[in-house]
Amino acid sequence: IKKIAVLTSGGDAPGMNSAVRAVVFSANNLGIEVVGVLRGYEGLIDWETIPLGLDDVRNINNQGGTILFTSRSERFLDQKYRHTAAKNLRAHDVDAVVAIGGDGTLRGAIKFKDEGVNIVCIPGTIDRDVACSEYTLGFDTAANTAMEAIDKIRDSSVSHGRCSVVEVMGRKRGYIALWAGMATSADAIVLPEKWDGNFDYIINALRKRHTDGRNSYLVVVAEGVTDAGKLADLIQKETGIESRVSVLGYIQRGGQPTAKDRMYGSLMGAYAIEILRQGRGNRIVAIKNDILVDYDIAEAIDLHNNNLDSFQYQLSLMLAE
Ligand code: F6P
Repeated sequence: IKKIAVLTSGGDAPGMNSAVRAVVFSANNLGIEVVGVLRGYEGLIDWETIPLGLDDVRNINNQGGTILFTSRSERFLDQKYRHTAAKNLRAHDVDAVVAIGGDGTLRGAIKFKDEGVNIVCIPGTIDRDVACSEYTLGFDTAANTAMEAIDKIRDSSVSHGRCSVVEVMGRKRGYIALWAGMATSADAIVLPEKWDGNFDYIINALRKRHTDGRNSYLVVVAEGVTDAGKLADLIQKETGIESRVSVLGYIQRGGQPTAKDRMYGSLMGAYAIEILRQGRGNRIVAIKNDILVDYDIAEAIDLHNNNLDSFQYQLSLMLAE
């Protein structure tokens, strides 16, 4: 392997820059040239690239977002454009691609390998929704950002004696909600994995606490499960507790990565280059039992190493009593 391309795709996630940096450092160590592809798969189609040397990745470990920019490429879903992207790689003598992103990025990679491209993926998304990996870059930072924001919301909630309903991100997974909710002692955490459409247990729990004389309440809801505004209205109507909604939104994607995201980004980036050095390819880097492993990208889709931990969920219910 003489030349590789690295890109970030899908939702930006803190820690992606650490992974890019480690890819560049590790490749440089082996005398492999690196090009950075801008805006994810879009940049492969349009061949928007920059050379990446050691000087280009200095002082990025602590930066949020991705220095390579990102996109959710609609065009890459079309085989015609994947073909163009593969032709571009061949025309520029690129031997392999390292793609950092979430579930959509992995699905794109699986199709891309049919164009004869060797691709190694690194799971990077705040949602922690890449099924084969216990960890995805950005989750720890996002969970901490959500926790800090909810702590602040709680201050206001206590001062007014209100109920705060806080919606957090996660796409179809409840990890951010579970972690941020448990860390802020939420009265109820609404998770997509456990939601049965029944509001009764939330209303009953809040009513009981109200009767017991509590004067602030917190409900953390994962996005997409239910309308957080409607839930706040329902709580107010059913319990008489004045309720407000806060949707945390994109604040969860930004900010300086935590030590964990910088460390795992560095480890995963270096591991991706190690896979290529060994002459392997079409793999995804993953964490299993807290160590680095890798899987065939097509098989990875069916692996479920990161199911929501039931013990953690039961604990969240018990601690809300
Ligand atoms: O995948 C990360 C994420 O932030 C999800 O939590 C959220 O559902 C989605 O991206 C938002 O996507 P977009 O950036 O396209 O608005």
